[in-house]
Amino acid sequence: MKKILSLAFCCCITASTFSQQQSISIIPEPVQMSQKNGRFQLPKNINISSSGNKEVQFAAIQLQKKISTSTGYSVKLSANAASANIQLVLNTNANNTLGKEGYQLSVTPKNIIIKANEPAGLFYGVQTLLQLLPKEIVSKQLVKNIAWSVPCIEITDYPRFGWRGIMLDVSRHFFTKDEVKNFIDEMAAYKLNLFHWHLVDDEGWRVEIKSLPKLTSVGAWNAKRVGHFGDFTPIGADEPRNYGGFYTQEDIKEVVAYAAARFVNVLPEIDIPGHSLAAVASYPELSCTPGAENYKVRSGEEIMDWSGPHFVALIDNTLCPANEKVYPFLDKVFTEIAQLFPFEYIHVGGDECAKNFWEKSDAVKALMQKEGLTTMDQVQGYFENRVEKIVNSKGKKMMGWDEILEGGVSPTAAIMSWRGTKGGVEASNKGHEVVMSPTTFVYLDYMQSDAIMEPKVYASLRVNKTYSYEPVSEGINEKLVKGVQGNLWTEQVYNYRQVQYMTWPRSFAVSEIAWSPAAKKNWKSFSGKIEDHFKRFDVAEIKYAPSMYDADFMVKKNDKGELVVSLATEIEGLDIYYSFDNSYPDHFYPKYTAPLTVPVDASMLRVITYRGKQPVGRMNNMPVEELKKRVLKK
Ligand code: ACM
Repeated sequence: MKKILSLAFCCCITASTFSQQQSISIIPEPVQMSQKNGRFQLPKNINISSSGNKEVQFAAIQLQKKISTSTGYSVKLSANAASANIQLVLNTNANNTLGKEGYQLSVTPKNIIIKANEPAGLFYGVQTLLQLLPKEIVSKQLVKNIAWSVPCIEITDYPRFGWRGIMLDVSRHFFTKDEVKNFIDEMAAYKLNLFHWHLVDDEGWRVEIKSLPKLTSVGAWNAKRVGHFGDFTPIGADEPRNYGGFYTQEDIKEVVAYAAARFVNVLPEIDIPGHSLAAVASYPELSCTPGAENYKVRSGEEIMDWSGPHFVALIDNTLCPANEKVYPFLDKVFTEIAQLFPFEYIHVGGDECAKNFWEKSDAVKALMQKEGLTTMDQVQGYFENRVEKIVNSKGKKMMGWDEILEGGVSPTAAIMSWRGTKGGVEASNKGHEVVMSPTTFVYLDYMQSDAIMEPKVYASLRVNKTYSYEPVSEGINEKLVKGVQGNLWTEQVYNYRQVQYMTWPRSFAVSEIAWSPAAKKNWKSFSGKIEDHFKRFDVAEIKYAPSMYDADFMVKKNDKGELVVSLATEIEGLDIYYSFDNSYPDHFYPKYTAPLTVPVDASMLRVITYRGKQPVGRMNNMPVEELKKRVLKK
């Protein structure tokens, strides 16, 4: 009994073997790194010194907490570098190579020294040091029997781009303040420094605007449904609208401060004039469409028809550019947003604005006549120009999705290029600053392997494709490329574990594209690093997608009309085992070596990937009916 009790009270996890001396696996890859002989063994009494600066102290405290939690060692902070085994040093004479975010990390058997020009650099040096420690360093509990040491190394490192962003959509599904903080922590560990907070869309207005209380009393709530978002049956008049939520202004301030301590800027997005159903449902007078007073915040039922050459809205989810009530409304919104978010930009959306209701509106026709506008894009351009004046009047710069280029917007507006890279190239050549965020490479809402394996989304994007992205596209004005961003839209993301699943590992790729020199990129070594970091995530209990272990299926018909399936893996060194007999294959089953002819009457192709005798992938179950459909589609 005593033994059981003492086990129960021992709040620790015990590694069954001593941690292997792992290879160096840093994401993002540092600019220069040279490993030396020997290791720094963490002593049981550790002293971390840092200068008095509060921002530097934060990095020192983070390191102290991580080391003391997982090792159980005594870790003290001091201002005295002489007695410290880990020193965080702010350069008194700036090292120009390092810039604002760079650092130098030196590990010898005697001590660890991180030097930087600015506190951000020390923070990034600490993130690198954590990645040099055994993976158990990220444990939230004490871990025993680990050889806590760091390889001796000299690193000089600084980012390629200043904008290393990830967007999280909290409108389609709401994520709590604590989940958002978690997200920021997870980003910052990989030197991602820009959190784009998509706060407003048809499905919910998520930020308290004190002068417009209905935006959150009405606009933050819809009805809960699960299944495939976008295809939900219409919500009944009596169904409760209690699903959703919003951030109070105090919550926002707390998150912004939390992010700032981790050197993460927060970019708020108020997506207008399209995607505005939550605003219109709250204040129907912002519409030009009769009947808007009956509109409700969207819960996932169909409201757009994307099938034609020009998409149309089935209900008018826009703010009306010809409605003079819209501009004082936006003035109020941006007054409060500007006060809450210290970052220099406000993102005003501008994407996917359906114009079919504007085409029918007498007010819009009158506006066009008055202003000499001849196209609906120009009407949006008129709107964006007025919005930019409001945003600028609050001391902020405007950023929008690449559609805002179409109606003519002043070069002072920055553009986020999402419909491929064309918008970014065009915008930079017109003198706009650009952030590159193309669907084809960095859309984190896309499926990560075959559609049979993932929650249904209309496109797939494997991590190797993300990693292949080069943001300085041909023809772009490189000087105006601020950086790169991955976007996580959350129509199909119902909970925070799924946020993590969708974010990782593709955001490792975003991090390395944005931080590391292009010449350092190498898929083979990067995919190995991903696997090392999966092991860290297992310790940290962060979910990730194992989709890169899933097979790729390519199918065609041979001359005899039989289905022939080719299989491939995204990473090297894996074997694929398969079955057509409905049983679950393992490494005693046939190994894939050449395209497979589907036997008569087979109903399922099951495959699994192994490394040696270890299964690494999930069971992929491909119905033969699905293969037939794919051949027909070609
Ligand atoms: C977007 O993906 N609609 C910007």
